[in-house]
Amino acid sequence: MSEELKDTIVISGPLIGDHHSQCFDSYRLVYSEKNVMSQDEFNQVAREATAAIVMTSIRVTKELIDSAPKLKVISNFGVGYDNIDVAYARKKGVIATNTPDVLTTSCAELGVALVMATSRRLVEGYRLMERNEFKGWKVDLLLGSELRNKTLGILGCGRIGQSMAGIMSGFGLNLLYHNRSKLNKDIEKELGIRYVDFISLTAQSDILVVAAPLNDDNRHMFTLDTVREMKKRSILINIGRGGIVNEKDLLVALKEGFIGGAGLDVFEDPNDIPSELRYHPKVTLTPHIGSGTEEARDSMSELAVQAVVDVLNGKRPQYEIR
Ligand code: DGY
Repeated sequence: MSEELKDTIVISGPLIGDHHSQCFDSYRLVYSEKNVMSQDEFNQVAREATAAIVMTSIRVTKELIDSAPKLKVISNFGVGYDNIDVAYARKKGVIATNTPDVLTTSCAELGVALVMATSRRLVEGYRLMERNEFKGWKVDLLLGSELRNKTLGILGCGRIGQSMAGIMSGFGLNLLYHNRSKLNKDIEKELGIRYVDFISLTAQSDILVVAAPLNDDNRHMFTLDTVREMKKRSILINIGRGGIVNEKDLLVALKEGFIGGAGLDVFEDPNDIPSELRYHPKVTLTPHIGSGTEEARDSMSELAVQAVVDVLNGKRPQYEIR
């Protein structure tokens, strides 16, 4: 079959492993092997696409869906899908899928790393060493705080939040959570975690972890008003989505000493992170690497490819977003 007659599959950024090469032989493959496509590049190639594997930085809007009449499946490379207008896709008969489960451990472990790094001031220590300013042991040098007997609150206790609670339960913490729906009693018991309302979660937590996906209800859930209610020396960790925390307000809260620190893996606009946040001594930043382990990214690549294969073969994909 000539290239023009073949269906087009777009892979909008590099995958890990070689899950795709055998599967897409009979298709015209537009594969951005080195970098994630820009939005403009994606918009161009999506017009002809029958299937697209979409990195989470790419937005799949109503307009994009309308401009791609052949599109059958949007396979999101990640668990969070706030980048896709899923309701509109559904209306247009386009199946959207994501890659949950396989990244749960990686994201939870990064959350734990941010808790440890922020509470023990690892970034400040690292910068001091880098500047060669360590001049010997000192009794009050970079005092952090222990986790034992502190309260850790989790906003959004789905797969990742629960996994993090499971890991953190070994630290002797008191565990709280707030969710749209309560977990069942057996899970609460197994994790030793207690449901509280949002106000109590913010007021009682020494460490508050945002592990929720972004939705219309939680955009800017953390503003100055919310953060003011947190304990004075508490720390805020965000491994969910940047849009849940108002970064400007967070900066004010840090400057005014309303909270003790923050650990962030996600940002309101990853291409425009305020420099004051980047250089703030009490802030630990990582570049959206929650799922960034070889294990998770390899499995995500496999799942993202498999979703396309399934839909193109008329099968229901394992992780259809409903
Ligand atoms: C996700 O899967 O949602 C992670 O944040 C990676 O994008």
